Amino acid sequence: MKSREIIRTEDGSDTLYVPELNECYHSIHGALQESAHIFIRNGLDTCGGTNLRILEAGFGTGLNACLTLLRAAETGKRIVYHSFEKYPLSGEELSRLNYTNPAKEKNAGLFLRLHEAPWNEEVEISPGFHLHKHLADFSEAEFPPLFDLVYYDAFAPDVQPHLWSEEILGRFCRALKPEGTFVTYCVKGTVKQTLRNLGLTVKRLPGPPGKREMLRATKIGIPQEKTPLPPPYDKNKA
Ligand SMILES: C[S@@+](CC[C@H](N)C(=O)[O-])C[C@H]1O[C@@H](n2cnc3c(N)ncnc32)[C@H](O)[C@@H]1O
Repeated sequence: MKSREIIRTEDGSDTLYVPELNECYHSIHGALQESAHIFIRNGLDTCGGTNLRILEAGFGTGLNACLTLLRAAETGKRIVYHSFEKYPLSGEELSRLNYTNPAKEKNAGLFLRLHEAPWNEEVEISPGFHLHKHLADFSEAEFPPLFDLVYYDAFAPDVQPHLWSEEILGRFCRALKPEGTFVTYCVKGTVKQTLRNLGLTVKRLPGPPGKREMLRATKIGIPQEKTPLPPPYDKNKA
């Protein structure tokens, strides 16, 4: 990523603009609003259970991670959060984002802790919130099938179509446990069809302000703990 500019979105929160792709990290109608609506209210809040594993494509500004940490603390959820990033923000970019300014933002310290956490190891950022940032290309990664929730926050398929291929989306879908949840801002027809081909049920939901819709998809399957036991062994039938 050659250069990035910081821009203010309509809800007052900042985001990054990438001239090379003519693409923003978040909706220009409101970065904070978009992240809270898609990933927290229609992702995290819909997952049962208190111990959750989350897998994110694109750590970026850390906004999704920070909102997840704050919501988990409110609801008593314990989270292990894995996130992949190939082009981390520089210290200078971070210091200019308005959610990292301690004078203006009460959670600025948390943001900085998320960013200061070392790459490629799991760190407890706050009680019950473990972060594992992977400095890696998520399109080349393989994931264990342990996740309850995927935040798919890659750049749009119009600018990075390879990140929305059946092969890459398939790896994220296979990372989900049965009944796991996949959320994304993208409602493109080809993406919906790919997720269906991969065996997920796909639901369009109202989008955040300024965007008509978003997607939530659920992996069909019997959770391991509900898998029926095999019938008792009958030696007469063996
Ligand atoms: C739409 S932005 C969203 C970022 C983040 N979720 C946030 O809230 O700021 C997409 C992110 O994916 C990262 N990215 C793009 N291609 C990638 C790849 N192949 N592997 C890992 N990260 C990638 C970008 O650097 C960027 O941070």
